[in-house]
Amino acid sequence: RTEPSQQQTGRTAAHDSAFLRACRREPVPHTPVWFMRQAGRSLPEYRKVREGIPMLESCMRPDLVTEITLQPVRRHNVDAAIFFSDIVVPLKAIGVDLDIKPGVGPVVAQPIRTRADLDRLRALDPSDVPYVTEAIGLLTAELGTTPLIGFAGAPFTLASYLVEGGPSRNHEHTKALMYGDPELWADLLDRLADITAAFLKIQIEAGASAVQLFDSWVGALAPADYRRSVMPASTKVFDAVAGLGVPRIHFGVGTGELLGLMGEAGADVVGVDWRIPMDEAVRRVGPGKALQGNLDPAVLFAGREAVETKAQEVLDAAADLEGHVFNLGHGVLPTTDPDALTRLVEYVHERTAR
Ligand code: CP3
Repeated sequence: RTEPSQQQTGRTAAHDSAFLRACRREPVPHTPVWFMRQAGRSLPEYRKVREGIPMLESCMRPDLVTEITLQPVRRHNVDAAIFFSDIVVPLKAIGVDLDIKPGVGPVVAQPIRTRADLDRLRALDPSDVPYVTEAIGLLTAELGTTPLIGFAGAPFTLASYLVEGGPSRNHEHTKALMYGDPELWADLLDRLADITAAFLKIQIEAGASAVQLFDSWVGALAPADYRRSVMPASTKVFDAVAGLGVPRIHFGVGTGELLGLMGEAGADVVGVDWRIPMDEAVRRVGPGKALQGNLDPAVLFAGREAVETKAQEVLDAAADLEGHVFNLGHGVLPTTDPDALTRLVEYVHERTAR
């Protein structure tokens, strides 16, 4: 294996990695694996470096971002790194008064609910997030042939935090705006699409090899409402980063009924949670797309044998799929045993070696 030269961008070095090949639906040496939330509280080395440093502050320190992003790559031998940040970082960067409360999630001081509130959502410029560009530069130099995934929150999921003012079970304020003032809703999502697209472009230009759009909470919507009220904004994001040479992944939770539309919005890879089997997801997404998923993260608490049985079920259901990226159906739970994750990577690599 040759070491990439300093001049090579991360993308060039990582071009032939199993992960990027799978995203492009090319033959792979083994099914690539990474985990949403692979960096974070499940790792003792993460808890150690984060001690006393608030979440948002840690996202603004390139040295810390680099170390935290690399931790799961070193420990688990995953096939991709995911940039350590948060979906609310670009909102904070344009001046929205918000914080990430431990054990709760993002909390917004003044929720966005009126037309006047839209003025608080100005455009995002690269100079607003210099620490992102710097961290990705450091990371791609360290990662060599391992690809770096950039990410952003999708317009609906960001809107949910902004309109509710924090995490929400029923998204009632968000839906009230969506159904009650469709024009204001469309303008809000359009602004968020521009911010999201800018945040992804910044990461791609800095050297990210792929991007994932997290629409974590969009499973709360019926397909007709998704198509009418959300899909135009998500499509705008995907269109803005089309042609930049990086695969675009689209993920949400509880999206069994939305998978076809989420592919249509412009994704190259569609993320699947654990509620439907991969072969059914293939039918729903249709031809021409890679899929990512879909082991239930709670399975990792069940012991080695059960983990392997359930992982094998995922692999079997994806056996006829061209382009499978193995992942969990949602993020790693904070109390997961990290050794179970390391063994899972090894299992998938061994079972799929060609
Ligand atoms: O390893 C990775 O996946 C990269 C890092 C990452 C974080 N947030 C770090 C983080 C990513 C990709 C995100 C995205 C994110 N943030 C999403 C979409 C992904 C998903 O899970 O659906 C969402 C909905 C958020 C909003 C958010 N930020 C939540 C719900 C929380 C958890 C709150 C808690 O404490 O339980 C956060 C905080 C957060 N973001 C943590 C991490 C590692 C935990 C904070 C900590 O470690 O102190």
